[in-house]
Amino acid sequence: MMERLPGFRDFYPEPLPHKDVWSCDARQYLFDTWRATARRYGFREYDGPPLEPLELYTLKSGDEIVGQLYNFTDKGERAVALRPEMTPTLARMIAAHERNYKKPIKWFALPQLFRYERQQKGRLREHFQFNCDLFGENDPAADAELIALLIDVLRALKLTAEEFVIRLSSRRAWADFFAKRCADESKAYEFYQVIDKLERDDEAVSREKLAKLGFNLDDVRAFIAASEPTAELAAVLGNLAARGLREFVKIDYNVIRGLAYYTGVVFEAFDRKSEFRAIAGGGRYDNLVKLISGGKVDLPALGFGMGDVVLLELLKSRGLLPKFDAALDAFVMIEDETLRADSLRLVQTLRESGRAVDYALLPAKSDKQFKRAQELNVRHTVRLERAADGALAVRVKNLRTREEKTVAVSDAPAALA
Ligand code: HAM
Repeated sequence: MMERLPGFRDFYPEPLPHKDVWSCDARQYLFDTWRATARRYGFREYDGPPLEPLELYTLKSGDEIVGQLYNFTDKGERAVALRPEMTPTLARMIAAHERNYKKPIKWFALPQLFRYERQQKGRLREHFQFNCDLFGENDPAADAELIALLIDVLRALKLTAEEFVIRLSSRRAWADFFAKRCADESKAYEFYQVIDKLERDDEAVSREKLAKLGFNLDDVRAFIAASEPTAELAAVLGNLAARGLREFVKIDYNVIRGLAYYTGVVFEAFDRKSEFRAIAGGGRYDNLVKLISGGKVDLPALGFGMGDVVLLELLKSRGLLPKFDAALDAFVMIEDETLRADSLRLVQTLRESGRAVDYALLPAKSDKQFKRAQELNVRHTVRLERAADGALAVRVKNLRTREEKTVAVSDAPAALA
């Protein structure tokens, strides 16, 4: 038997045949919730190519993600990469056509992304990532709008303030910290990388890495502990408080973000028990559009990405995923084969009216058909009946309430409502 590649997933409809496969129903539930919430906030959907020129990522994403690229040379001798993130593609798209859109631009996407990572809990070589981004606004009101959206997506998935928290930080705060202690700007990204790993790395390792850059771990720790909000962070907190969303966020300078292009407010969403890796991450990247457009377009930008892997693991562990089934409105039973043609007509009518309907493709015993209807967890069984005078009628049984009724063929769609 052919195996799938490590770090890639098969998605099956529920009930799942094996614990190693993923639920396509659960994935669809996420996609639906992501789309619905983004629309509530006035975001429009976009998409881009899954394969891009390699250079798009070597430009400014940072060494970490470049080291994880799925890249190769194509048959036209082009250096290409499967997209590891959406932000560079989006920056390219915005740079090309921002003039056609009123500002602020609020867009979302649901791309599948590819990173050649070491497979571990919450990390695979392919994932789907909900991306929301906003262009053309410098004010922290935009940061707050985006963070509110992030909070509301998680709330729409039934997670509460006890379950998750958004840790807010600022690249600018860290840039100031850096500039006060080191004059060599070229070392800044290396310093940010050490801060990004502080919670995961060994204390001795961090201390040594910092010392090499001329920093002291205790000094860094004291700065994090003070967690003094910058002016922009204070504005974000005030804005979220006005919405009644203050309890979902906290200032936490442990967050700095691994990607190189961030410039201002940054944030990450975590489960409160810290059992899982980050659910989502994002922030401001005010220079990326300018960089990718070769200086032609200059637009402030911010956004976040939320992966499906950690999120599904979390929802599953908290028992927050709904029960999924075929979600059919009706199963049309054909117990009298002389009524097959009329039954097919009925199936067609019901489907044309928007109902989800199934039936047995070939003649089958009545109890077998009923068993199938039950397996599919349909809401109704429907059967055609011929009265003594030859007229056709439809017998509808609601399997939830056990209620039965007979209606005219033309009333059958309404009887399934
Ligand atoms: P990121 O922090 O690299 O940010 O990824 C965002 C989220 O995607 C993570 O918090 C995690 O849930 C998920 N994720 C990332 N890598 C993997 C993986 N290998 N397996 C499973 N899930 C993963 C970005 O990608 C930024 N481009 C987000 C952004 C958008 N910033 C501004 N706009």
